[in-house]
Order: sequence, then C-alpha cells, then structure tokens
Amino acid sequence: MLILGIESSCDETAVALWGEEEGEVISLVSSQVDLHSRYGGVVPELASRRHLETLAPLLEEALKQAGRSLSDVGAVAVTQGPGLVGALLVGMESAKAISLARNLPLLGVNHLAGHVYGAFLEHPMALPALALIVSGGHTELVLLDQKERFTSLGSTRDDAAGETLDKVARFIGLPYPGGPQVQKQAESGNRSYHHFPVGEMENPLDFSFSGLKTAVITFVEKSRAGGVEPPLADLCASFQEAVVEALVSKTQRALRVTQARNLIVCGGVAANRRLRERMAELALAKGVNLLIPSARLCTDNALMISRAGWSLYQQGRTIGLSDDVDPNLSLFDA
Ligand code: KG4
Ligand code: ZN
Repeated sequence: MLILGIESSCDETAVALWGEEEGEVISLVSSQVDLHSRYGGVVPELASRRHLETLAPLLEEALKQAGRSLSDVGAVAVTQGPGLVGALLVGMESAKAISLARNLPLLGVNHLAGHVYGAFLEHPMALPALALIVSGGHTELVLLDQKERFTSLGSTRDDAAGETLDKVARFIGLPYPGGPQVQKQAESGNRSYHHFPVGEMENPLDFSFSGLKTAVITFVEKSRAGGVEPPLADLCASFQEAVVEALVSKTQRALRVTQARNLIVCGGVAANRRLRERMAELALAKGVNLLIPSARLCTDNALMISRAGWSLYQQGRTIGLSDDVDPNLSLFDA
C-alpha cells in the first residue's frame, strides 16, 4: 500500500509516496529558504502563501515523475502539528480534500514523530529506542517504547539547538538557515579556539542554549571592542563544538539512565557532520545501535510523514474531517 505524505509545517513544502513493500517511490521538497532569508527567519504569512502556491503543482509533479496516479494511493498522511498554524492548514486541507475525494484513510502525523520514524526509512525498526530530536524549533530526548508510545526524558528550557545555530549565525552575518553555514565555516576552523560553556539544568537531561548564544555574542562584542575581529572559521568551530558537546553529553547520560540499546538522532540539526561523527563515536563506545537518517532525511521532508503515517495506520489511529491542525501538538499522550 502506498502512502501519500504531505508536509507543510514550516518553510518546506514536501510530498512523498512511500510503501512498506516498495519503500521510497518519490520524495520532493520545495524549500522556501529564498523567500525567508532576507528576513533572517521564517515569516509565517509568507510561508502559508507559498505553501498554497506550491503544494498542488508539487503533488502533480511527484505523481508525474513517479509515473503514478492518486488511484495508486492507499492512505494520506499529513503533518497535523506542531508548526505554524497557517502553514499546517494548507497541508491539512489538501490532505482532507484528497481523502474525501478518493475515500482514503487520513492519518494525522506529529511532525516530531515524523522525524523519529524517518530513522526507520533506512534502518529496520528497533524498539525500545532513545531518540534525540534536534530541529529548528525542538530539542527533545524521548523514549519510544515497544508499543510505540513516546515518553519525555528532557527538553530545552529555552532555545532549541537549531534556533541557537540560526540566531548566532545571523548575529555573525551568515545567511539563514544558519546551521549549514556554521558547519561549513567550522570545517576549516579550530575547535579549541575558545571554550564556550553550556548551561546545566535541574533535570540533568534538560537542555539550555540561551546562555551559550549570549556567551558567543558577548565574546564577539568584547573582541571587537578590543579591536580584534574573531576569525569566523575558528569562532564557528568553537561554537558548533559547544552545541554538539551539549547534545552528546546529555544523550550519553540518557543512555545510561534508560539502558537503551537503540539510539535515534534526528531532526534538521542531525544533518550536522560533526554531530554525526560524535554520535557515531558514542554509539561505538557504548555498543548501541545508532539509527541516524542520511542528511537529506534529517531536514524536513514528506517521506518521514508517510513512514510515521504507516505506523498510525497499522494501529488504526486515523483522523476524520472534523479533526484539525494543532500548532502545539504534543508528542506525549495526555
Ligand atoms: O527539522 P528541520 O528541517 O525543521 C524544523 O522542524 O525545525 O530543522 C531545521 C534546523 C535549522 O535550525 C537548521 O539551521 C538546522 O536544522 N540544520 C543544521 C544543518 N542542516 C540543517 N544544523 C547544523 N548543521 C547542519 N548541517
Ligand atoms: Zn522538522
């Protein structure tokens, strides 16, 4: 059975066709980076309008490239939340229209669950698993148990890891989104140029990144006041190392607490080469099975939505036309 996946929660419009037997049939992602970069971040109204203009043609293009039609589709999976409400609505209304017109089951996928299930596109499903979700809006350590229920272990108390990368990048004059730009600069930089500390929280599995952001900004301002411009590559390498160190050390702690044997690292920041390298070292040292999607499946896409939708379908968890998007949709059952 083929599942049509639709993703429009933030600044990528994406559609995909995926089936348990066939695997990936097609995955198209239309990025809005050009639209938002001049504002240094996502402008919600512009995002919704662009999704509206892009989604139908993108779906048509996907079916054409795949040589399929809507009659080959068995279910529609769509991101229900969390995300920007206007952006989510575009995907949801389109999914509802297709579901109604074709009499197809409708699956409402949590975007964060989508990132986690994206790890099962290229690796066999292995549960229970500890998952680190690191994206532009979220930094979460969660446990996915054998019944496919999520439990929270820790999360950021302030900024998300991706948000911190984006904000610091913006401050030092790098274009949006900042994560890939920081990575690029960091590759020729010295990680030991400066040690930036990362805050500790009451719950040792919680994160805090706003102090790090302030520390980098203050360091740059002080250097400049003293007539020194910090070398961009060294600054990025040191800053990136601090972000990665925080993510790796908390994950290591969570592995110890949970005794989990499977580790998923996912979300846009999981595309980061230094984080991937450090997580591979950690997994090797601890003898755990590392499930990390390839970089193109870490950032927002609809294949992960199809895959997560498949799990919902198997559990009989469909939604109806009266169900709505939820910009604050929780990953955890009430
Ligand atoms: O998952 P995602 O595509 O969208 C959200 O759900 O937020 O994540 C986007 C975030 C942005 O903050 C972006 O800067 C970051 O992922 N990102 C990276 C890399 N690629 C994307 N951060 C570090 N290194 C990368 N290579
Ligand atoms: Zn995402």
